[in-house]
Amino acid sequence: MSAKFMFRDIISILDFTREDLETLFEFADRFIKINEKLEILKGKIVALAFFEPSTRTRLSFEVAAKKLGADVISIVGEEASSIAKGESFADTIRMLDSYSDLIVVRHRFEGAAKYAAEIAEKPVINAGDGRQHHPTQAMIDLYTIKKLFGEIDGLTYAVLGDLRYGRAATSFIYGLTLYKPKKVYLVSPPQLRIRDEVRRELIDRGLVFEEKNSILEVIEEIDVLYVTRIQKERFPDPVEYEKVRGSYIVTLGMLMKGKPHLKVLHPLPKVDEIDYSVDNSKYAAYFYQAKLGIPIRMALLSLVLGAG
Ligand code: NCD
Repeated sequence: MSAKFMFRDIISILDFTREDLETLFEFADRFIKINEKLEILKGKIVALAFFEPSTRTRLSFEVAAKKLGADVISIVGEEASSIAKGESFADTIRMLDSYSDLIVVRHRFEGAAKYAAEIAEKPVINAGDGRQHHPTQAMIDLYTIKKLFGEIDGLTYAVLGDLRYGRAATSFIYGLTLYKPKKVYLVSPPQLRIRDEVRRELIDRGLVFEEKNSILEVIEEIDVLYVTRIQKERFPDPVEYEKVRGSYIVTLGMLMKGKPHLKVLHPLPKVDEIDYSVDNSKYAAYFYQAKLGIPIRMALLSLVLGAG
């Protein structure tokens, strides 16, 4: 049992230490090994409150909860809940707090999960708030790298894509600050660079990083290429989106210029930023990464609900 996770809100990856993540990874390893339906959360109810679209995150939380024996209740989209009738977010969370043992929240507004955590007595897990945090995705990403390379320290990383609006990319980079990467390249069109507050945080935390415009500048040097899609829905101005649309596409030819063990990660969904020819190549690690969402979320749910 790890007291560090017990009944705790999971809001940002920066609230964790690498030791915490090691505990989580050990639990995830155990769940992979056991590979059967368990009863350790029997009698518990997990509420999924997804006010923004999701496929993997929602389904993998649901599968993880069910594999642990918990029951699941869900709100999927504002249209389908009383929010469409004008009920406030706060009232919805209060209600879920009285119906369940843990609430997983996804929302388009930054700070929504933290706000929910202030209202709810039960633990709240942030499944993505606006462009800000997506801690459980970062946990999956780091675990995937550990599984692929045996370590997270000492590798050279490139994070390619929408670093301005992408919460998965930001959370992943924040996650790297807990480790000792050899070097981190942040690669994006100039309009999609990391925001100033993120840059300050990385500098304060001593991350060695460099910003680049093109992946070709660093492809030969890197071990891990983390790609993200352009977050169309977060652009305040559609004209700005049109300017950067399709501005980077990872191809097999590009990857073949890199190290033979180079691996490509992506939180998914991918749109057009990775050529289909990469999907069946030795470089693609994103489907494996998505699969690891289940054991990581099982580990997290069991640790937070004190059943670890
Ligand atoms: C990401 C998200 O929702 O932030 N998806 C996910 O959870 N795997 C990335 C994205 O939408 O681009």
